[in-house]
Amino acid sequence: MGGARTGVRSPGERAQALAGASLARASLARPSMTRAVETLRIELDDPAMSALAIGSLILLTFTAVRITGGAPNALMELGYLPVALAAYAFGWRGGFAVGVVVAAVLGPVPALLGFDHVEGPAEWLIRLSVFAGIGAFIGTMFGRTTVDASEIHARLAEIQERERQSLLALATAAESRDLDAGEHVRRLEVTSRGLAVRTGMNERQLDEIGTAAAFHDIGKIRVPERILMKPDALDPDEWTVVRLHPVWSEQALGAGAHLAVAREVARWHHENWDGSGYPDGLYGDRIPLAARIVRIADAFDAMTNRRPYQAPVSFEAALEELQAGAGHDFDPELVKHFVEMIRGDADLRAELTELRLV
Ligand SMILES: [Fe+2]
Repeated sequence: MGGARTGVRSPGERAQALAGASLARASLARPSMTRAVETLRIELDDPAMSALAIGSLILLTFTAVRITGGAPNALMELGYLPVALAAYAFGWRGGFAVGVVVAAVLGPVPALLGFDHVEGPAEWLIRLSVFAGIGAFIGTMFGRTTVDASEIHARLAEIQERERQSLLALATAAESRDLDAGEHVRRLEVTSRGLAVRTGMNERQLDEIGTAAAFHDIGKIRVPERILMKPDALDPDEWTVVRLHPVWSEQALGAGAHLAVAREVARWHHENWDGSGYPDGLYGDRIPLAARIVRIADAFDAMTNRRPYQAPVSFEAALEELQAGAGHDFDPELVKHFVEMIRGDADLRAELTELRLV
């Protein structure tokens, strides 16, 4: 079904399709502020980085207070920064300990060093109690939030896994009918992930593409079996039905944010690099990368496994077909990567052979 072509689309339809693709790409891009906060959090998850940041903030507080005339001084409140950071990074004990240190740095230490404008022991004691107490309190609150968040994460992961299993059962049913028992879905996950690795995708994106590859044809469940299993060429009416399956697949995957990439792949995995595919006639890199990846993995899989309408060909023959279609049906860069991957990875070929339907 991969080689089917549509006619030229109207400018309105094409514009709408392109807008859809841009939106889909934009949904993948994360706001830079969110990224910055995430990066900061990752840095602070490293205890050495946290300790360095806490030390720097203590020094900053000390310096700011001393160069602005010493105590009493409103800039002493800067001391809450290292205390809060320690509470976040090291829990209530860290918050308490750094509270004591900051109170010492602002009180007794300048006195011992012979600085002017220092407060007396009564103020030191009050500041120590407040800083250490607040540090311990913030640390306790962070601790509770972390426990709550990890419980929510565990529940969410459980729900998502359950949903994945249900969809996988449906995808397998939609794909296989009586042809295979889900090996197609497995093969596609393996080859799509492998190709995605070569484009530099991160672990989260690899998981998304694996899921997308598994579910991309889920809408075929609505294509009548007499069409799906027909050994002869399809007539125009039957083609019309088959060409609806990307849209049906996209609809079947609902609206959840975690399946956004799966929906992109579902809708656009029959788009061609030169714009001759369906359902929207997207072309070039306007077709989302994930969809271009699955397009190639799916075409390779269709050629190398038994189908109602064709006998399988060898891996090598299929790779040559892909190369012949590079720049027309397929992204030429990705074809290069895919050919290298299959030719260069004997383990992958063995795994695909094991899952093969000949
Ligand atoms: Fe498909």
